[in-house]
Amino acid sequence: MPILNQESFKDSASGDALPKLPLPTLSETLDRYLRCMKHLLTEQQFNKTQKIVKQFGAPGGVGELLQSKLAERRGKKTNWVYDYWLNDMYLNNRLALPVNSSPAMVFPQQNFKAPIDSLRFSAHLISGILEYKTFLDARALPLDYARGQLSGTPLCMEQYYCLFTSYRLPGPDRDTLVAQESSVMPEPEHIIVACKNQFFVLDVVINFRRLNERDLLTQLEKIAKMAGSEDEPVPPIGLLTSDGRTEWAEARSVLMRESTNRDSLDMIERCLCLVCLDEASGTEQSDTTRAAMMLHGGGPSMNGGNRWYDKPMQFIVGADGCCGVVCEHSPFEGIVLVQCTEYLLKYMIASPSKLVRAASVSELPAPRRLRWKCSPEIQKLLSSSADKLHRVVNNLDMNVHKFSDYGKEFIKKQKMSPDAYIQVALQLAYYRCHGRPVSTYESASTRRFQQGRVDNIRSATPEALAFVRAMTDRKLIPSDMEKMELLRCAINAQTKYTVLTITGMAIDNHLLGLREVAREMKIEKPEIFKDKAYLISNHFILSTSQVPTTVEMFCCYGPVVPNGYGACYNPQSDYIIFSVSSFHDSLQTCSAQFVKCLVQGLQDMMDLCKRCNCGPNPSEQRNNPAVEMQIQTETKDKTSQRTPDSTKSKQNAPEVLVKSPETTFVGPRIQEKR
Ligand code: COA
Repeated sequence: MPILNQESFKDSASGDALPKLPLPTLSETLDRYLRCMKHLLTEQQFNKTQKIVKQFGAPGGVGELLQSKLAERRGKKTNWVYDYWLNDMYLNNRLALPVNSSPAMVFPQQNFKAPIDSLRFSAHLISGILEYKTFLDARALPLDYARGQLSGTPLCMEQYYCLFTSYRLPGPDRDTLVAQESSVMPEPEHIIVACKNQFFVLDVVINFRRLNERDLLTQLEKIAKMAGSEDEPVPPIGLLTSDGRTEWAEARSVLMRESTNRDSLDMIERCLCLVCLDEASGTEQSDTTRAAMMLHGGGPSMNGGNRWYDKPMQFIVGADGCCGVVCEHSPFEGIVLVQCTEYLLKYMIASPSKLVRAASVSELPAPRRLRWKCSPEIQKLLSSSADKLHRVVNNLDMNVHKFSDYGKEFIKKQKMSPDAYIQVALQLAYYRCHGRPVSTYESASTRRFQQGRVDNIRSATPEALAFVRAMTDRKLIPSDMEKMELLRCAINAQTKYTVLTITGMAIDNHLLGLREVAREMKIEKPEIFKDKAYLISNHFILSTSQVPTTVEMFCCYGPVVPNGYGACYNPQSDYIIFSVSSFHDSLQTCSAQFVKCLVQGLQDMMDLCKRCNCGPNPSEQRNNPAVEMQIQTETKDKTSQRTPDSTKSKQNAPEVLVKSPETTFVGPRIQEKR
């Protein structure tokens, strides 16, 4: 199978018309980096960082050399950052995929009255997938255009063509994203159905004919029967894919010693997608429990083994109506996933099930059960993977909240960007909980450019800090009008950074490029990338993302650092769904507290807007002395920002306390970004 890299995109019809990702100048990025970090560091640390950055960017210095290499790279490559970014964001990451990396979409709760209902739902869903695939095969998806900020520009479509054709192969040090294209033989068209931890090959094209919904149901019924009739206990091999990537790579090489296993792996790795027929979880159903179930399958004792995490698309159909899709994230972003799943859900609503009308071919060959030869070594590895997944399940602190007081229409009426407003609210929530700002990641699409993926909007702006301090610090006692000005400034700064990022001028990908070019040139790692500030800047305690939908469903994912939060939001006209995650074993975080602070902040912001109930005055937004003063006060006050909560003065204490006093965590770089 070919590796999915730059070369895989050469024949892109839509991509060729788009511009190449620009390369910001060195000085722009270094200045922005300092501005982003100043209020997140102690004065002492900032002074040190400033010197290091100055040295790096000095005329004739190492920064200029690396920048010139990046410019050369930009000339040669379709997208100068794509490979660096893919490796850094996903393939180098050794953490287990469930919770840590793979996001999920949670479908509306289904009402299955009998076991056959979930099979009918699956047959209908698979019909939709096959229909959607005809557009992909013909490369005939309509072009996406940007909405919101800088709307109307065409977007790169390449991610769509990876939905059903890629696979993340585990490696000992780095995974590989492979594409299942073969110029020699047409690829078999099959789906893998997981049922009771067993895997079945469901051919969807037999004798050159695509199976209709009735055929699919017949085959699914056979699978359900076969899964229940196995006398021998079946090893839950799928559990291995939920382990750390290095551990799974090692286990896979053990499995590969047996030809039976090689055949089974080959069938799974070349399938279109998985459909996982899950057992009922037996737990009370809520958005929160369903989100957790999508992210980890409930662990080895539930549906944790009924998965194959390397495959980008795994549709989950629970007997209890808990349904959704969990995705291996490296080939595409959540927005593309949403477009695909919305197509499927709309297809299922708009095209009624054809089970009654369609006739099934009577003699369809039974789906094949995949077999495994399981040595004692594999048994041992399986039990180790099961233990780890069990810990992941117990550790996930999930909280899905539908905020119904208002949605994006209210925010638009204030003449503010809803996304920027929500980001400021997230900053306020974190500050209320923890009394300090932290490095924040907001993914922003760079699909305006060839092979564009995402870069980072650093939402913890100095302007956001000025606002959240005004809202929480009882020493400051600002008037409503002052607070409102600070809010507008925070939103303007956030919107400005958004535009910077979606036009390819943000700092994170650029800094990554400079670091990776140095590594490739085998020169000593520049001081700027060894500096503590760089570690802090990449330790994303808040990992946030807007994933809006037009049908009833929501996205969720886990935190990217041990002491962090994952915060995904879905803004609708008159409500916003927040999926907040963190880890129970962090003494610093608590998802319920975070949600509580978020709700309080959103209400406070609405009240403030209503009290000030005035349209924006553009002249007041620029050069506002109150804001200038506020920011200056903050930057002089670094020491108190870094003080652990417990030692803060009572007046300065966060309004809601979390599990324990907070300290800055600068641990090893585990998984730093989403
Ligand atoms: N006054 C009134 N309305 C405004 C406004 C203002 N000042 N600013 C924006 N709006 C409107 C927009 O016109 C837009 O209207 P629409 O709903 O009719 O399209 C709406 O508010 C939303 O705009 P905004 O909130 O500014 O956000 P956006 O849609 O531009 O989104 C990002 C910003 C960063 C989320 C987006 O550019 C992006 O990159 N999305 C992808 C994120 C991603 O990758 N997620 C998945 C990760 S796995």
